[in-house]
Amino acid sequence: MFVKKVTLHNFRNYAEKTVCFTQGLNVIMGPNATGKTNLLESVYMCGLGGSPRVSRDKDVILWGEKGAYIHLELQKKFRAHTIDMYIDSREKKRVAIDGIPISRLSQLIGTLGIVFFSPDELKLVKDAPAERRRFMDVSLSQQSSSYLFALSRYNAVLARRNKLLKTLSPGEDLKNSLQVWDVQLAAEGARVVKARYAFARELKTFAAERHLVLSGGKENLSLAYESDAPDGEEKQIADVLSQKLFLNYEKDCALQYTTVGPHKDDIKILLDGVDVRKFGSQGQQRTAALSLKLAEIALFADNTGEQPVLLLDDVLSELDEGRRKTLLEQTSSLQTIITCTEYEEEVEANIIKTK
Ligand SMILES: Nc1ncnc2c1ncn2[C@@H]1O[C@H](COP(=O)(O)OP(=O)(O)O)[C@@H](O)[C@H]1O
Ligand SMILES: [Mg+2]
Repeated sequence: MFVKKVTLHNFRNYAEKTVCFTQGLNVIMGPNATGKTNLLESVYMCGLGGSPRVSRDKDVILWGEKGAYIHLELQKKFRAHTIDMYIDSREKKRVAIDGIPISRLSQLIGTLGIVFFSPDELKLVKDAPAERRRFMDVSLSQQSSSYLFALSRYNAVLARRNKLLKTLSPGEDLKNSLQVWDVQLAAEGARVVKARYAFARELKTFAAERHLVLSGGKENLSLAYESDAPDGEEKQIADVLSQKLFLNYEKDCALQYTTVGPHKDDIKILLDGVDVRKFGSQGQQRTAALSLKLAEIALFADNTGEQPVLLLDDVLSELDEGRRKTLLEQTSSLQTIITCTEYEEEVEANIIKTK
């Protein structure tokens, strides 16, 4: 798929702006603080519903204005779509797909497939497990609405369980009231865990291939999902989760939060058998992160039959020449929108100047 056109009204530093994109490589170029990332952010928001930079939607409204508006035109394999997003300073944002308002933001996810890459993503391998879980969740949610549904349910039940644990008074026994939540938590958790095992398995093949290229044929990358529950049928996973919730009851009460479940899981990443999260050099960790992101693109295309749109914010300047070249080669078949202050690569691009 590819984004054909974006129109902005009172979005960040743009009072009024229309930008046309082409199918291949698009380069948003200009000096610092001229609105390159802002433009990328508007596309990201149409794909994932929120901003990668701020948690409050209203921060994207042009200062002094009451609301911002994004209109995006998208071409998929067999049909075109439009996405309209109204961000209001006083009410919840409203979204319409093909002119039809949606009632829940989750309905937007998957319409415009996004793979986002900024210098923060280069830390994916080195960062805490939460970042790698986020990586899986964002990617899987775009590829499968049933995953997004299971994950939202899981998080909702988890939040209620944790709240109950927080308000526990000394000597109180929560076992019976927790049991109700735990059945649901294990069931939804099992769906999440099962999907993540499959994701990691598929990602592994693609990531290994890409890492071999990026490391000049030197390093073998392997990865696996690390979980409280071993891989298996959904029912088996749910049983293990139930059992572990039960066994950790005292501990959860003492710590006042839920200590087992997919919200604690991780992806283990090995280079030639060594855990690169802990023992990799900075260069190895960054290369492995790049391999994972490139693998994410391949997996997305494999699972949905559509290429996602790749957004690269200030990443080229962070990579050496060889890795820059590999990145642009590997992404030549999809729409890529990058920001940079200057563009000197050989690959031909549609240049969009912000100043
Ligand atoms: N809500 C907003 N309203 C108006 N201007 C904004 C808003 N948010 C950010 N800006 C401006 O946008 C500029 C940064 O844009 P950005 O896209 O991050 O720059 P860059 O081109 O370096 O990526 C800042 O100079 C800031 O003044
Ligand atoms: Mg920027």
